[in-house]
Amino acid sequence: MSKEPIIISIGGGKGGIGKSTVTTNIGTALVQKDYRVGFIDADLGGANLHHCLGIKRPQTGLRDFITGTAKNLADVALATPLPGSWLISGASDIVELANPRFAQKKKMIAHLRTLDADYILIDLGAGTGSNVTDFFAAFPCGIIVSDGSAASIENAYGFLKNGIIRGLLRLFPGNKELQQFIRRCSGSGNDLHYTTIGEMVAAAVQRFPDYARTMKEYLHAKRLFLVLNMVRRESDIRHGERFAGIVKKYLSISLIYIGYVSWSEDVNASFRAMQPVMLHSNAAEVRNAFSSITANLVALTRE
Ligand SMILES: Nc1ncnc2c1ncn2[C@@H]1O[C@H](COP(=O)(O)OP(=O)(O)OP(=O)(O)O)[C@@H](O)[C@H]1O
Ligand SMILES: [Mg+2]
Repeated sequence: MSKEPIIISIGGGKGGIGKSTVTTNIGTALVQKDYRVGFIDADLGGANLHHCLGIKRPQTGLRDFITGTAKNLADVALATPLPGSWLISGASDIVELANPRFAQKKKMIAHLRTLDADYILIDLGAGTGSNVTDFFAAFPCGIIVSDGSAASIENAYGFLKNGIIRGLLRLFPGNKELQQFIRRCSGSGNDLHYTTIGEMVAAAVQRFPDYARTMKEYLHAKRLFLVLNMVRRESDIRHGERFAGIVKKYLSISLIYIGYVSWSEDVNASFRAMQPVMLHSNAAEVRNAFSSITANLVALTRE
């Protein structure tokens, strides 16, 4: 197994779509395949990943790292009931923590790469604000969760677009002119009239030839995976492929549809019981879905 952890953020814009459920159960499936897994609850407004993993009151977590009580991210990791895995819990009780400074986030991102695990899964909060997208932008791999409905696909698209723009901006921290160009191309006013990220990069080749290559490499390195969750209709399953096509066309990144999980009362029951559904004996359909999604993820991240 490789030394550097494979870091995957899990987001999707919309609240309550199952990001924490997907994080928990993919993580459990990875543990069942003997991978060492780290869970990070990056939801700094309404953290609940500890609940999904069966931990009632985490004694430490991101709060202690952000406030400086703990110097290293590794110091705030807790063992979980899943063998060989750990959790860095989020926070929901201190308002100012919901908006850590960029420098704090940068430190967190740097520490993350040094943690001991084969996979690190970062459960992102809802929304498309910079706190959410900074983590998404910082690492090549990400999972997008949607229920396949029009509203949630729209949210997921907004999340992805913001995340990509955020990532491109982060590439050139000191270059105000280029940053402004990226902002103008992507802002709601869109005064430069580029419909796609591809058109924007093509324009950057003309105006900023020295930097366009870095932008292309960033987009090329992105490894994004789509999971549909809480699927209720046969027709929604097909929306995954369509969405992936739209993302390729408009955002110039590859989004690979790695599977779907149907809506199931078993998931709700396991959530209430504070246990991953992967550990339940009576939820074969959901377990099979998460197993197959995880097998696809492993194949695509370890190739
Ligand atoms: N496939 C599913 N079938 C039925 N219920 C589900 C499914 N996936 C998740 N749920 C339920 O939906 C609720 C929200 O799930 P979860 O907390 O994972 O969403 P989230 O996207 O992380 O929410 P938030 O945006 O608040 O972080 C929970 O009660 C969970 O049990
Ligand atoms: Mg959540």
